[in-house]
Amino acid sequence: MNSNKLALMMLGGFLILSGCVKEEPAEVRTDQTMMNHDEMEDGMSHGEMEGHMSHDEVMQLKDSTGENELIVPPVLERNIDGDVTYTVRAQKGETQIFNGSKTKTYGYNGTFLGPMLQFTKGETIKIRTINELDQETTFHWHGLEVAADADGGPHDALQPGEERVIEFKVTQEAATLWFHPHPHGNTADQVYNGLAGLIFIEDENSKHLNVPDDYGKNDFPLIIQDKLFDENHQLNYREARNEDGTIGDTLLINGTVNPKLTVEKEKVRLRIVNGSNARNYTLKLNSGDSFVQIGTDGGFLNEPVTVQEVTLTPSERAEIVIDFQAIDATSDLALVNEDGSVLLPFDISHSNGVASELSTQLNDFTLTAEEKNLPVNKTVELFGMMDHVTINGKKFDPDRIDFTQEQGVTEVWEIYNKPDIMGGMIHPFHIHGAQFKIISRDGAAPPENEQGWKDSIAVHPDETVKIAIQFKNKGLYMFHCHILEHEDNGMMGQVLVE
Ligand code: C2O
Ligand code: CU
Ligand code: CU
Repeated sequence: MNSNKLALMMLGGFLILSGCVKEEPAEVRTDQTMMNHDEMEDGMSHGEMEGHMSHDEVMQLKDSTGENELIVPPVLERNIDGDVTYTVRAQKGETQIFNGSKTKTYGYNGTFLGPMLQFTKGETIKIRTINELDQETTFHWHGLEVAADADGGPHDALQPGEERVIEFKVTQEAATLWFHPHPHGNTADQVYNGLAGLIFIEDENSKHLNVPDDYGKNDFPLIIQDKLFDENHQLNYREARNEDGTIGDTLLINGTVNPKLTVEKEKVRLRIVNGSNARNYTLKLNSGDSFVQIGTDGGFLNEPVTVQEVTLTPSERAEIVIDFQAIDATSDLALVNEDGSVLLPFDISHSNGVASELSTQLNDFTLTAEEKNLPVNKTVELFGMMDHVTINGKKFDPDRIDFTQEQGVTEVWEIYNKPDIMGGMIHPFHIHGAQFKIISRDGAAPPENEQGWKDSIAVHPDETVKIAIQFKNKGLYMFHCHILEHEDNGMMGQVLVE
């Protein structure tokens, strides 16, 4: 921590203490933006304070050397007998991430990360979920519009050795979703160790669109995750853990360290999933070339949006298309982070791939005037850092229902990120069981590449966002910050849909 911040902290502590003695308007106002006296006294140790990272001092990622070809997650085969569509096992094992050494990891149907599950809108899917870990876990389908009993929130724990079959109908449009565990207080650890898989939904629209869809050839998922490896190439979550969100200096894409991607001279679609515990990324090409974004968390944008960069906070997705024929490609073209660190170098082969135009009309997403004018039904206040994170002043309680909402009725949620004495940080806010629409950010229309279905939204310090959300199904759903340590530390609430 720099001395400015330390001074601020001490000043904050002083103001809080004096606020306890005498209440004057100025001090009351100070109080609202700071932790209260009790938290300061018995909760936060000096060491914890030092662990806090504001986004201006985040550890930089090492450049990818590009020595390993990007791993493409396998497509999970459907079961051939019985009526169960897929079997998904959470298991542990060892993975050779670095040459010549084995890292202890978790995975679905393998030792690290998971396969890709393919659903078609309209079909009924049955999944046999099996917990082969030696601790409890759940199977959560992030972004999927399912009844709460299939959603895999913290109430649906499977003990070691247990299995459960869930069933649901796929009712939403084509999108890139993902799945991960959600056990009470232990999500960060399990995701960090490798539990994350992909879901691709396709529908009539997506089948007829002109967008690259040759999986592993011109259509690649990129699950981006930063990790901190110890000297033995182990993940050692306990050591790496930061209460404000664990970050690392090594980027894995689909579990590949030092990845590169070989492509032909054609349009290539990248379905980017921020599967990191806490890190935000702003991705761009090192050449400065623009590309197009075609999809958000929950589906296609109405038309391709030309962008220079795309920012993803934890759990957000963006589908982009890079035209490797149009780019005057030098040998060192790469996807880089905001600070210039090289994340994914491209190896562009000399052969020309498919030359085709992108569809210009991709979807018919609308935010109606009626939706824009709906009154606010629920307010959500995100606050705090480290272990002191709350929603509307409260920590998660599995026995408390925070909100109720009627099935099939659109409501407006207003979400505010209240700054703290350190200035605050972005909280990526996520709601289970539904895709929502962003009405506004601080009163203004969202940028073009957020005018599509979302299930997670980055809320900046002191920002107010308004969303319109409707649940198609019933049950008890979670909403929470998707910095996984914040979620585990109680930055989560529950909405009962009836
Ligand atoms: Cu990605 Cu509560 O989930
Ligand atoms: Cu979720
Ligand atoms: Cu948070």
